[in-house]
Amino acid sequence: MSDFSLGTALSKTLSSGPAGKMARRLSDWVDLEGSWLTKMLTDLAPRAHGRLLDVGCGQKPYEHIFRPHVDAYLGVEFADTFQRTNSSSKGGKPDFVYDGKTLPFESKSFDTVLSIQVLEHTPAPAELVREMSRVMKDDGLMILSAPFSFRLHEEPDDFYRYSPHALRLLCRQADLEVTQMDPRGGLFTVIGHKLNSYLALNVAHIDAVAQAMGKLGHEKNSDRGVRWWTLPWVAPSMVTIAFGARALDRVLPDPTETLGFVLVARRPPSPKAL
Ligand SMILES: C[S@@+](CC[C@H](N)C(=O)[O-])C[C@H]1O[C@@H](n2cnc3c(N)ncnc32)[C@H](O)[C@@H]1O
Repeated sequence: MSDFSLGTALSKTLSSGPAGKMARRLSDWVDLEGSWLTKMLTDLAPRAHGRLLDVGCGQKPYEHIFRPHVDAYLGVEFADTFQRTNSSSKGGKPDFVYDGKTLPFESKSFDTVLSIQVLEHTPAPAELVREMSRVMKDDGLMILSAPFSFRLHEEPDDFYRYSPHALRLLCRQADLEVTQMDPRGGLFTVIGHKLNSYLALNVAHIDAVAQAMGKLGHEKNSDRGVRWWTLPWVAPSMVTIAFGARALDRVLPDPTETLGFVLVARRPPSPKAL
């Protein structure tokens, strides 16, 4: 059997059945980026309410977390980049696509705006934050996540990384009041995530398996074969690295390094016209 067909068979096994579920759970735990984000969004989700707009929703990987707390969950995407980066994958779809400049909604029409790992992909982040603020109702809630340290992805549409100060500035310029700013892990999470990404993508070539398991959904579909002979040492190494990173971050926290930040902001009511 060739590398490619072995990899394809492994992908099929891992994407279904009890073995697939267990593998999925373990891979979620090993995926430091994904597990931090999922945990933080799960904690924040009960604060979402009313009509929610997910800006740059991709395949809506967090819809199941927010859906129980809101009346409506709508996703909007920039047609151009969505087509290029999500074209062949199997997940959810946006409800609206637009030109990437003016969100196709009336002002003050959403109670909650969500935007997860989008701000690095637009050449004009200040305009996008202003647009998100415009469509928020008075007292509306924004939950936004952006990377501070993450490998190049979705190239060439990968423009920026964000410090908490830049995020605060962008919000201030859009009349939003930041009420919470939390880092996603510390130094050892960053190191662990980078090592594990290298092992998974550059050594074991597990992109196709990961995509069959619903991960890397926003990346182009991969059809390269898994280097299955590396898995007996790559897989335990990745589990050990994830465990070590989690443990060391607790013992030796370093607030100057993180994968990124999740912020919560509020749109203060506009002053009434005299
Ligand atoms: C890294 S993906 C994240 C997708 C999804 N939020 C997630 O967490 O899986 C970035 C997404 O931002 C979208 N995007 C880029 N510029 C945008 C813009 N100006 N408005 C809305 N979406 C945009 C891209 O099409 C892409 O789907």
